[in-house]
Amino acid sequence: MVKVNLKTLKIEAQKEIEKAENLKDLDIIFKKYLGKKGEITQTLRSLKNLPEKERKKRGKEANQLKKFLEEEIKKRQPALAKVSASKEEWIDITVPGKKPVLGHLHPLTLVKRKIEEIFQAMGFSIIEGPEVENEYYNFDALNIPKEHPARDFWDTLYLKNGLLLRTHTSPVQIRYIEKNNPPLRIIVPGRVFRHEATDASHDVQFYQVEGLMIGKDISAANFKAIIEEFFSRFFGKLVKIRLRPSFFPFTEPSFEVDMSCLTCAGKGCSACSRTGWVEIIGAGMVHPNVLKAGGINPKNWQGFAFGMGMDRLAMMKYKINDIRLFYSGDLRFLEQF
Ligand code: FA5
Repeated sequence: MVKVNLKTLKIEAQKEIEKAENLKDLDIIFKKYLGKKGEITQTLRSLKNLPEKERKKRGKEANQLKKFLEEEIKKRQPALAKVSASKEEWIDITVPGKKPVLGHLHPLTLVKRKIEEIFQAMGFSIIEGPEVENEYYNFDALNIPKEHPARDFWDTLYLKNGLLLRTHTSPVQIRYIEKNNPPLRIIVPGRVFRHEATDASHDVQFYQVEGLMIGKDISAANFKAIIEEFFSRFFGKLVKIRLRPSFFPFTEPSFEVDMSCLTCAGKGCSACSRTGWVEIIGAGMVHPNVLKAGGINPKNWQGFAFGMGMDRLAMMKYKINDIRLFYSGDLRFLEQF
């Protein structure tokens, strides 16, 4: 063990005690010299290895230094206690408060809630269905048998176990009418998946809201009225929409609903593929084969169904020009809602 020079140690320790700015510093000094592993404690412990004469002399010196430093530290304590107390307790009441950081609801959650609120007020129930589906509900029961070319409309992600990720929310129509009797009015918000290239208005996963209304005298006019009412409540103003004839195997007749692009006021931008119109809804009168698949007699009942792109509605509501922002997890985007 190195023999420390007690005189130098004393000078050093005294300097440190003088310089201590608070009780914490003082405590560190105490530990350094007088703590269990402190330099003076170590010196006292190592005395036993010295020849008797030297042991006595050095033992005396070390004990004197120990006592001396204990007293010095004690003397310094009251002054430093005052400093610490006044520093810690001083509160600057003029400093502005800190705002707690709150989480944000995702824009798609906000839009989903709004859609549900509007349709609930019009007497629709909110239903859910599975994201992992089988071919029967996603295709066959919707009048799309195997080998039917219309299956190519939906680029499907198949799973290894023979199931698939639903390509639309329409399978829930069948699941619901199998178990419930008409008249009925439901909407089905949910996530869907497609194996297709992405661009500003297409993603590989997005949200749809399926709608289904079945009754005795339901016609396409009812669909138009409900959708117009929905749009005016959702956007809080009249928006320009148009109905186009279209084709879906599970509706006859079929149509699509476009709305005038709100991002560019119909002038043409990335959100509307420069056309001024955004395709929002696929719809039509429920095909008799679909009603039959769900155990409903098409002679007594008819109705309309629709599938609405929720992401595109959100893009229009908040003037967002790229659908992929919703799934980017970018806080600069999310914190705006
Ligand atoms: C369908 O999925 C049909 N199941 C809709 C339907 C339901 C028709 C009931 C008749 C009766 P479509 O593939 O066109 O149709 O999609 C419907 C809506 O989903 C589109 O109008 C669009 O708003 C949205 N959509 C479609 N593909 C994408 C995509 N890749 N990214 C974002 N939104 C999309």
